[in-house]
Parts: sequence; C-alpha cells; structure tokens
Amino acid sequence: MGEQGDRRELTEERVCWMSDSGPQLALARILGSDRHTDLQTVGFHLREFVRCTTPLKLANLAMAKMQRWLRRSRVVGMPTQYFIDPINMCNLRCPLCPTGRGVLARPPGRMALADLKGVVDEIAPYAYRVELYNWGEPLLHPEIFEMIAYVSQRPISVGLSSNLNHLDDNMARRLVTSGLSQLVVSIDGATQESYEAYRRRGRLDVVLKNLELLLETRRALKLCGPFIIWRMLVGKHNEREIEAVRTMASEMGVDAFAIGPLFVDTKDPKQVEQWVPSDPRYSPYACTISELENTWHCRDLWESMVINWDGGVAPCCWLHDPQFDFGNVRHQTVQEIWNGPSYVSARRVISRHEEEPNGVSTICHRCRGHPHYMAY
Ligand SMILES: C[S@@+](CC[C@H](N)C(=O)[O-])C[C@H]1O[C@@H](n2cnc3c(N)ncnc32)[C@H](O)[C@@H]1O
Ligand code: SF4
Repeated sequence: MGEQGDRRELTEERVCWMSDSGPQLALARILGSDRHTDLQTVGFHLREFVRCTTPLKLANLAMAKMQRWLRRSRVVGMPTQYFIDPINMCNLRCPLCPTGRGVLARPPGRMALADLKGVVDEIAPYAYRVELYNWGEPLLHPEIFEMIAYVSQRPISVGLSSNLNHLDDNMARRLVTSGLSQLVVSIDGATQESYEAYRRRGRLDVVLKNLELLLETRRALKLCGPFIIWRMLVGKHNEREIEAVRTMASEMGVDAFAIGPLFVDTKDPKQVEQWVPSDPRYSPYACTISELENTWHCRDLWESMVINWDGGVAPCCWLHDPQFDFGNVRHQTVQEIWNGPSYVSARRVISRHEEEPNGVSTICHRCRGHPHYMAY
C-alpha cells in the first residue's frame, strides 16, 4: 500500500455514468473513450495530445469528424485511433468474455512484431492513439515492450488494459520505461471472493502486489508515466463494493479510478439475471427501445479501426469472429480497407439507413449502432 502522503482523493472517472440515463450509460462505451473528469487526467490527455500532434494528424482528425457529421460513406483520410490486438489468449477465464469462455471464433495466436511494424509504418502519419489490446492479455505477448516502444516513438499515444496477474520486477521496469502512455488495470472487487466471481483464476493479492510494484518502479525511476487507471466493471456481484474498491484504489495511489458497465448477452436470460446490476444506475440495459432508436452513436466507422493478431480488420472492438472482418492488412493496405466495399456499405447503412447499396452486407447491418444488444 502507498504511504499516507501518497493518498489522494480520487474523483471517479465517470466512464459510463455521466448521467442516470440508460442509453447514455450504454452508449458511452460505444462513443469510444473513457471520460476523464479530474484535472490530473485532463492534464495527461492534453500532454499526450500535444506530444502526438502534427498538422497532418490534426487535419485528418478534423476531416474524420466532419465526414461523420456529413454522413459520408467514402472518406478522405485515415482512422485516428486503432485497437491492435497483439494476442487473443489469456490466463484468466472471465465468464462473459469470449476469450475467457473459450468461445472466440478467431483462432488463438500472437501478432508478429514485423506485422505490427508494417501497420504502424502506414498509420503513423495519421494516428493519435493505439490501444495495444483487444481480446487477450497483452502482457502475455513476449514482445509487448518492443511493440509499445515502436508505436510510442512514432509518436503515437499507446494504451494497454491488463488483468495484471502476470508481472515480475523485470517486466515492471520494462513496462514503465517502454513509452506506454496509459495502463488500465482491471480490478473488479475488494475481496478475493468478489474479484474471482468475474476474474476467474485471478488472484487479488497478486494483482495488488503487482500494481504496487509498478507504482514503486515508476516512483523509483522518477517517471510520470504511464498514467495508471484502476478500472472496475460493475455487475450484480460487486455493485455494493464500489466505495470499498474506490478506497483501495485511492490508498494504492493510482492516478485515477474508473467504473465501467458489464455487458452481457441480452438474449441469454440466465446471464441477465446473474450479472446485470440490480441498481439501474449501473445497468447499461436500463433504457427503453425508443430511447435507443433515437440515438445514433457509432463513430467507429469514421474514426477508428480494429486490427486483430492475424491481420483481420474489424469495424469495432466488440467483434471477434473473422467472418465479420472487413479486410486483412496482411494483403491489403489500411487505406484500401478503410474505403473498401465493407466500410462504405456499413457507413451508408448506419448513417443513412440505406440497405446494401453496393451489395455488401456487413455485421453493421445487424448491429445498427447497438453492439451491446447483440450476441455474436
Ligand atoms: C477483453 S479485455 C482484454 C484486456 C485484459 N485482459 C483485461 O481484462 O483488462 C478488454 C477490456 O474488456 C473489459 N471487459 C471484459 N469483460 C467485459 C464485459 N463483459 N463487459 C464489459 N467490458 C468487459 C475488460 O475489463 C478490459 O478492460
Ligand atoms: S482477463 Fe481480459 S481477456 Fe482475459 S478472460 Fe478476462 S476480460 Fe477476457
């Protein structure tokens, strides 16, 4: 635990709880980024923005926003944000995660460093942010530190989310010196019992020890990054522990605390019954159909791209089945895929509700901007 002097009052990063309205809770995740409210967090994002900005990136960002607003289906420019998945294997067995449940449709594997470099070389002039994770535990990739460094040096802001069950002294040192901008540590309980209700096979004492090691290493090396966020997914199993977990985060001296919604397969009544919180303020599903229909919130098709370990490109981070891929960077450029038939068709159906204008049907034709209501 950190010293008393390290304690600070953490303002909760109201990741998905900006209001009590269900659709906003649910859609905050789809809108993309966590909403950081405290000054320290705002400062962090500003520094990253300045560090990674070039006139070309700024123009590309403005263009992406404008084209989404104009509902353009064929776009000029490139995505500003990427999820690149180094590995889709994991040491834990979280029961609502397709990797944890062992139902991932994409075969298990690791991205080669050379493949990552090829993608980064193409996207670097435009990219602000790369999240180096998606459907696995990124710290299990043996070259994750080289990957982070390669992206960070371009310069692109790099984020990671980890269950932090796997770390040693050497890894901690390499992680904090790699150029990583932000680390989200997934810890959803104040006791081993509530923690392992979701993070099956995980050990809370190990995670807390590893987090302390990271914070201590960062302090010893007098580094101000990476920015470390403790993130708690809230479900029925832990909704009464939010304050206890927040206090633990504050005592550890992490930079921010966030809570996020636990998504379920809404077609499975058992999952809904078991996991959706009783308190509607914490449920991403406490909204009516008409509220949902009156919102249009998919920015991914204009601003971001997901690249899986095998090069398969998905339009958003919810998808794990390669049958929904929009292309593959192993034999196409990112630029070609970005304006390829799948992206063009998906943008048109999402923004204009025009069905299959070029004969290409995509997963977005089923999703219609509400991926949290789909079972994949
Ligand atoms: C699939 S995980 C991969 C990264 C890492 N293994 C981890 O758990 O942090 C990516 C993110 O999804 C979150 N996640 C896992 N199951 C979820 C669920 N059912 N609903 C919402 N988010 C979930 C994790 O907490 C993590 O932040
Ligand atoms: S730790 Fe992350 S990747 Fe692993 S099973 Fe849990 S949510 Fe999925």
